[in-house]
Order: sequence, then structure tokens, then C-alpha cells
Amino acid sequence: MYYRAIFCIRLATAALLNLTVVISSTAWAKAREAELADGGMVATRSSWASQIGADILSQGGNAVDAAVAVGFGLAVSYPSAGNLGGGGFMVIRLADGTVITNDHREKAPGNATKDMFLDENGDVVKGLSTRSHLAAGVPGSVAGLLDVLEKYGTMTRAQVMQPAIELASNGIVLDRDLAESFARRKREFAKYPASAAVFTKGSGSYQIGDLWRQPDLAASLERIKERGKAGFYQGETADLLVAEMQRGGGLISHEDLRSYESVWREPIRGTYRGHEIVSMPPPSSGGVLLVQMLNMLEAHDLAAMGYGSAQAIHTIIEAERRAYADRAQHLGDVDFYPVPITQLTDKEYAKARFANFDPTKAGRSEDIEAGRVPVESMETTHASVIDAKGNAVAYTTTLNLSYGSKIVVAGAGFLLNNEMDDFSVKENVANYYGVIGREANRIEAGKRMLSSMTPTIVLKEGAPILVTGSPGGSTIITTTMQVILNVIDHQMSLSDAVSSPRFHHQWLPDRVLVEPFALSPDTRAVLEGMGHAQLLDLGTRFSLGDANSVMRTERGYEGMADPRNAGSAVGVAKPSGE
Ligand code: DON
Repeated sequence: MYYRAIFCIRLATAALLNLTVVISSTAWAKAREAELADGGMVATRSSWASQIGADILSQGGNAVDAAVAVGFGLAVSYPSAGNLGGGGFMVIRLADGTVITNDHREKAPGNATKDMFLDENGDVVKGLSTRSHLAAGVPGSVAGLLDVLEKYGTMTRAQVMQPAIELASNGIVLDRDLAESFARRKREFAKYPASAAVFTKGSGSYQIGDLWRQPDLAASLERIKERGKAGFYQGETADLLVAEMQRGGGLISHEDLRSYESVWREPIRGTYRGHEIVSMPPPSSGGVLLVQMLNMLEAHDLAAMGYGSAQAIHTIIEAERRAYADRAQHLGDVDFYPVPITQLTDKEYAKARFANFDPTKAGRSEDIEAGRVPVESMETTHASVIDAKGNAVAYTTTLNLSYGSKIVVAGAGFLLNNEMDDFSVKENVANYYGVIGREANRIEAGKRMLSSMTPTIVLKEGAPILVTGSPGGSTIITTTMQVILNVIDHQMSLSDAVSSPRFHHQWLPDRVLVEPFALSPDTRAVLEGMGHAQLLDLGTRFSLGDANSVMRTERGYEGMADPRNAGSAVGVAKPSGE
């Protein structure tokens, strides 16, 4: 029954999505209106996953039930980032005021060593931390999703997992988004027979409209449904994963899997112009940097400068430059390194850090180092969910690069992450996203690698008004911040706040990435005059982030799947009588 309903919706949306993708590759700014509903809202990168989440809300589940169902749904319908073999973060704010985060980030295997990606000369072996079995950290998603469900959900494992299981076993009618995505990576999948078996169709490619079934993944999900965490971290799935490691020279052992645990962490909290910000703590750098940058910007009237003005853009870039320098030095897994969270998120620290800001002139990253703080004893996807009662969940999950290591665990049907690249594999050497790191983020057995994922909830007068976050590696934090600035400073509608063109600076390399239409010619000239010499146009092939967001307005709940990509926001009506 369920499957038939989804199937029909898919056929209808596939056509719609094709259209959306074409529009989004040229000018997305006016491509999509926000969805509106009064009984809850789910916004994700995958229309299948959004529908699964909305159905759970309609059946009486809360936002946590829906977010967990979305997590498993994304593992089936958005395999480039949704996952069983990766990790993620969830920020939860319940209507009773409880605020908590769940860290289910991958961990370095027990046999990992600091220099494992270096050759005998101490040089980084290219590709080893992204394209090999060694690239995989111990997966955390299954532990996290199940722990979150058990603690704050209201439904059973079977209820929230069944839609994903049916989607995997009955199949998905491929839309352009998925079919093209599989075809683009055909050569990489071909290196691993189990990956080729999932993502290619014999010797050819899957086409739009093909039915794509994932029986091995369905069986892995069934084992989780039956046995909970033991159905993944022990038994057949664990055996298959360890066998895959042994075949490919990876490190993850039975002991690594058995001992993996998600961690409940206190959120990073900040305030910005009368709003409360609740975001992800380390091992993500997201929440700390977000609050730090907002603290620096609070003293500057961005609204008066005007959206898109050279002055506002310059001010934001300079805040980014300083915050990302701190990231390289101070941020890592708090269980291994004393991250000075309190100092970095302190308003006085931000003031001191921004004291040398020159409103007329670009700073030079080579002149900026990490701030001195007294040490206190430190293809991703984002989904936002809110329910009728006001429970809110911001959830970001990833395999790191698109399709992670591209290695499917033979027999288990899921991809392995390549998250080890998020460690600083060598001091001051850039990772895939160009960010550098030092001791705080060096590889250590059992340590979590530093992330930029920034699932965030913004509260006003004690109630959530915005649930947001994004993929995009190191650009995640600045994307999330720009959505927040657009809403708070520039009073934009959700549709405009998410769609408006973005820019990004990360200290090193010293350049600004710029989406199409982000800078008018005269704005560009002013910025260049200030000394922002490298304003790098991204063109239409790449975009910054995918900020699927939900907002509460006087109209109700608005939902917005970022028009840069496919996906949808699906709202549900309040049950009558409530
Ligand atoms: O945790 C992180 O910061 C990265 N592994 C995120 C990767 C990512 O966003 C890729 N998607 N575009």
C-alpha cells in the first residue's frame, strides 16, 4: 500500500524535478516558492525522504520520529550522502524546552595512526585518504539514529524504518537527478564490483524511468529493524563490513564496530540580535564558528549597509577570515583535545578578534593567525523537520565526498565513507576542502575527525523560528550563516533567504568563492578596490550549499528545499480538532 502511494508520487515528482533541475542550473533565484502548512514540515534533498518524513508526521509521529525516518530514507534514496556507512549530527529542540545534540560522527579505527596517509618521506600519498578502504572511519549513523529514536521518539523502530525498507526492496523510479548522478561516476564505481552492481546497469548506465532496486541494502536495513544496533555493529552486517576491509586493506575491525557509540553533547549556544542560536559543538567546527562569526558581525549594522552591498560583503568576509584561522588551530574532537569553546564563542573574544577590522580595506590572510586563547582544561546532506507541537530537528549527514569512498560493502549494499580525509593528515596540509589543521585535528585511534557540519535551530522568544544547515564541506558554515543573516538582518522570506546567491571565504586559500549574481559589477569593483583581489566566480557548474530549511512565520510553517538542487519540502496539515 505504502509503496504504491510513494510510487505514484514519484512518477509525478520525477517530471517536476527534471524541470526544476534545468531551471536551477541557470538561475535558481526565482525557481521555487516555499511550501506552506500548519501541521509540520520536512525539507530534504530527496523528495522520497521528505515524503517519508511527512507521512510519519501525518501518522502522529513527532519531529524526531520523522527525522529518523528521513535518515533511513536518505540512505536509500540519496546514496551520495544519505547513508548507513557514514555519520552525522542532529540538533534537537523539543517543545518542552529540551535542547540536545547527538554526535554520530565516524571515528578513526583503533589501528589508525597519525601518519597513516604519508609515505616513507613524510609526504601525503595522494588519494589515499579519499579513495581507498583506509579512507573509511567507523560508521556512526545507525547508532545515532537509533539512539535518538529511543530517547526522544515516540514510534517503534519498525514504524520509522519500514518506509525505507520498502523503498529499497521495491525500488525507486529513477529521476534525472539520480540517473545522471550514477552515470557521472560510472568509472569510479567500476573499480569495485559491489559498487558497480548497485549503481550501474550491467555494462551500461541506469536511465531516467528505470526501476532501481537495492535488495542487499534492504536486507541490511531489515537486520537493523530486527536487532537494533546489534543488527549493524554485530552479526552479518559487521561480518560483511570487516570482510570488505580485509579484502581492500582497510582498518575497521569487529572491535571498532562493537564499541562504537553515539554521544549526546550540549549544543553550542549563542545570541544574535535578540535571537538564540543553537548549533552543533565539536567534533564539528560548525556551531563554534557560526556563533563566533555572528558575534563579530553583531556590532555592525548589516541591514543598514544593505543586502549585497560591498560594505556588508566585506564585513562578512573579514569575520570569516578570522574564524577559519581559529578553526585550523583550535578545533578538533573535544574528547582528545581541549577545544577552547567558551573563549571562542565569547562576545568579548569576538570583539578583540575583530578589533583590527578595517572597514575600507581587505585583510590579508598571511597577516592573520589564529587568535590566542588561554587554553581551558578541543556529499553531505541537510534535512530540517518541525512538527505541529514545535519540536524541531536539524539533521546533517554525510559520507564526506559524493558517494564517500565509492566502495559498497559487498553483500551489505551500502557505501563506505571517506571521512578520514577530514582529519589533518599532515600539519598545515590542506584536505579536500582546502582547509588546513594542526595538532587539534591530527589522526589518533578512536578520535572523531573535525567537521564543518552546522545543523542549527534559531529561536525567538523561546520558540524555534528557523531550522537550517547545509552540505558543502568547509563552505557549510558560511552558507548556514548567510541563511540566518538573510532572515534576521535582511528580513527575507524563507524562499529568498535560501535561494539568494552566496559567497564564501575560509582564510586559506585567500580567495572568495562567488555564486552567479552574488556581486553586481559595481559591487565587485568596490570590493576589488578594497583589496579583495581574488573574487572567484563559480559559474553555474558549482554552487554553495544546499540549505533545506524550515521557518515558522505568521502564515504557518514554511519549508524550502534549496532550489540549487532537487529535493522537496513537504508540509502536513494539522489534524482536525487541534
Ligand atoms: O564533515 C564535514 O565537514 C565534511 N565531511 C562534509 C562534506 C560535505 O559537505 C560534502 N558535500 N558537499
